[in-house]
Amino acid sequence: MTAAVFAFDECSGSARGLAEELRIPYKGISIHHFPDEESLVRVPPEPSETAILYRSLDRPNDKIVELLLAASALRARGTARIVLVAPYLAYMRQDREFHPGEAVSQRVIGELLAHHFDSLFTVDPHLHRIDNLSDVMPGMQAVSLSAAEVIASAIDTAVHPVIIGPDSESRQWAERIARPSGLETLIGHKQRAGDRAVTIAFPEIDKVRNRTAILVDDVISSGETLAQASQLLQAAGAKRIEALATHCLARPEDLKRLEQAGIVRVRSTDSIAGPTACLPIAPILASALQAAVLSVRH
Ligand code: R5P
Repeated sequence: MTAAVFAFDECSGSARGLAEELRIPYKGISIHHFPDEESLVRVPPEPSETAILYRSLDRPNDKIVELLLAASALRARGTARIVLVAPYLAYMRQDREFHPGEAVSQRVIGELLAHHFDSLFTVDPHLHRIDNLSDVMPGMQAVSLSAAEVIASAIDTAVHPVIIGPDSESRQWAERIARPSGLETLIGHKQRAGDRAVTIAFPEIDKVRNRTAILVDDVISSGETLAQASQLLQAAGAKRIEALATHCLARPEDLKRLEQAGIVRVRSTDSIAGPTACLPIAPILASALQAAVLSVRH
């Protein structure tokens, strides 16, 4: 059985890394944008029985359409199995109709992807009330991986930092990062009033005085959560404040805001390309794909 990693230009670096880890070919997908902003997607014409289609779904609205076009072109060239690797998976937050008339985007996008792909691999998806990604992607193999080990390995444990989760949702995650090295954790209570309006309180914040504080989160979006948290840690006397996240969607101005809030270094995995993306996730993706997809080659 032949297999290859296929990817679009914007994520070619990480996708090539994955192909190298898997020791299978990398193939680029090209896009032509017409003046009316339609996309013409072109996949390499040589057929592959298994296609690992790599694309992170930040800026999802355009990307999802192109992904579906690529999947249809691969099928037309004889690909039997298409595995979507979306290190960052969008539209997972809206899992119910919070206010009358709202679309439940998690269900719509989940069903759409399940219809077009045979399997999905992602990292730290932002699921709230649903534990199992397969419940979102009916009838599809859906695998949710964690970057906790990658994040943990980037921490200098010699300085005995305090691992900070900015909200109760991050507790499990912060503990998973801190526990193997016996590091202390501090978990905040967060209230969100709007997209860029959050208030956070930390019980026992005094424990950060004269210590290195490392904020950890699954995603940095506007950066407001980490900025607010950092200001509190700074006021409580933290000696140095850093941030580590699986996914960083922050724009340059958001990163500037984090710096102004006292965070001296922001690092993230390379799930989304950008200035903070220094922790490769190809090894965790490769071992999961090797076990679940490529080892069943005939
Ligand atoms: C919240 O549940 C998440 O874990 C993040 O804390 C949140 O999405 C970050 O968003 P922002 O950077 O916009 O505050």
